[in-house]
Amino acid sequence: MKVLTILGTRPEIIKLYSLIHEFERNSEVEHILVHTSQHYDFKMSQVFMEELRIPTPDYFLNIRSGTHAVQTARLLESLEKVLMETEPDLVVVLGDTNSTLGSALVAAKLKIPVAHIEAGCRSFDLTMPEEVNRLVTDAISSLLFAPTETTAQNLYFEGHPRDRVFMCGNTIVDVVEEVLKNHRSNRPMDDEYILLTMHRAENVDDPQRLKSILEGIKQINTQVVFPAHPRTIKRINEFGLKSFVDDIDNLEIIEPLGYVSFLNYMMHSKIVLTDSGGVQEEVILLNRPCLTLRDSTEWPETVWAGGNILVGWESKKISETANKLLNNEDEYDRMANAKNPFKENAAKCISQKIIERYHARSLSRKRIDLRFAKYPLPHLHIGASVEPQNVSLSFDSDGNSLPKDIGEYNISRD
Ligand code: UD1
Ligand code: UDP
Repeated sequence: MKVLTILGTRPEIIKLYSLIHEFERNSEVEHILVHTSQHYDFKMSQVFMEELRIPTPDYFLNIRSGTHAVQTARLLESLEKVLMETEPDLVVVLGDTNSTLGSALVAAKLKIPVAHIEAGCRSFDLTMPEEVNRLVTDAISSLLFAPTETTAQNLYFEGHPRDRVFMCGNTIVDVVEEVLKNHRSNRPMDDEYILLTMHRAENVDDPQRLKSILEGIKQINTQVVFPAHPRTIKRINEFGLKSFVDDIDNLEIIEPLGYVSFLNYMMHSKIVLTDSGGVQEEVILLNRPCLTLRDSTEWPETVWAGGNILVGWESKKISETANKLLNNEDEYDRMANAKNPFKENAAKCISQKIIERYHARSLSRKRIDLRFAKYPLPHLHIGASVEPQNVSLSFDSDGNSLPKDIGEYNISRD
């Protein structure tokens, strides 16, 4: 079986680590690895490839930076050539980046089945580029590997067929366990510190929001260490915020860290302050409290478990929540001891499911199964036996749906 795995950014490299090793070990799998080069700096890519002993990719697509359209367009053109040349049985993508979306799109158009790892994650905020990428990727993928029960439910409620959705767990658990097992952890700093990461477009591309977050950090009563993403550094300079940042006495900006060092910094931090998806997942595994600089999260399990609080971007809320936590031992312990909501050994389960499907000749998904999608209106195609339901819609003369119809969409789901 020929499996082609795509990675392109820091979180994809880290979270695909265990699955890549699973494929590489399996004699039934001929594995092809493609790096889109969406992330290309040594500290955003190669450091993780080396630390996690990921084999040198067979292809680099060199898409690098650009607008969403430019980045995606470069990927579509270059990956199409690779897929036509290699003819894989399956393309594996993870997460919600432009590399994920572009790769799923090229493969789906070439009728190559796509397996999406981290399917069903939803922030329900369509202003985030990641949410667009998640929705489209799930819509066109053949195998949907939901990391949690909540994400599997999201997929069911969107009408994805149940025999296409698997809940194998979260690959982040595999990589964190592996790194902790093999590396001794030393305190990176003598004094107490909060670890900060921030790079999301909705925070750092908006000067008002970026300044507000920085003001919140300035009001925190302990030092804050920030391994800064290149996007954030670029925006701080573009928005003329460099001297403002230099004047924040409790903020220390450092270069992005390799994975072993970053986990070490997280483990010894007092609190982690972040807008990252991956970091929210890791903090709860490491028994630290997480404060998330966002209004929504695609990892609600971390909040429900009590280990994560959404603090948004307003300075007062950020500093007050952090300072309160630093002064309240009971509350601090409660958050730090929140139970891990993620299931382990995901990569093994995912690769087994893929191989089973290959042997059963059912990797691809040819049509939307209306029994699962529960479309309220009759659809017809040869061989389908979908009972028509009597749903009458009415619209006013301006084309608006009349509210009286809404009650008729009382679709029950088990
Ligand atoms: C991307 C993902 C985001 C993910 C993040 C992980 C999309 C739409 N966004 O955001 O979901 O959370 O990766 O880190 O795919 N840059 C460098 N060197 C690099 C890479 C980037 O300097 O190696 C700078 C460039 O100025 C670039 C900017 O960072 O314009 C943003 O990079 P880009 O890949 O567009 O998005 P990320 O912010 O990294
Ligand atoms: N990370 C790292 N070094 C850093 C910052 C983050 O190794 O300096 C790791 C982090 O542990 C997590 C991943 O990068 O596994 C998250 O990537 P990022 O925050 O860039 O993307 P997101 O998860 O938000 O898509």
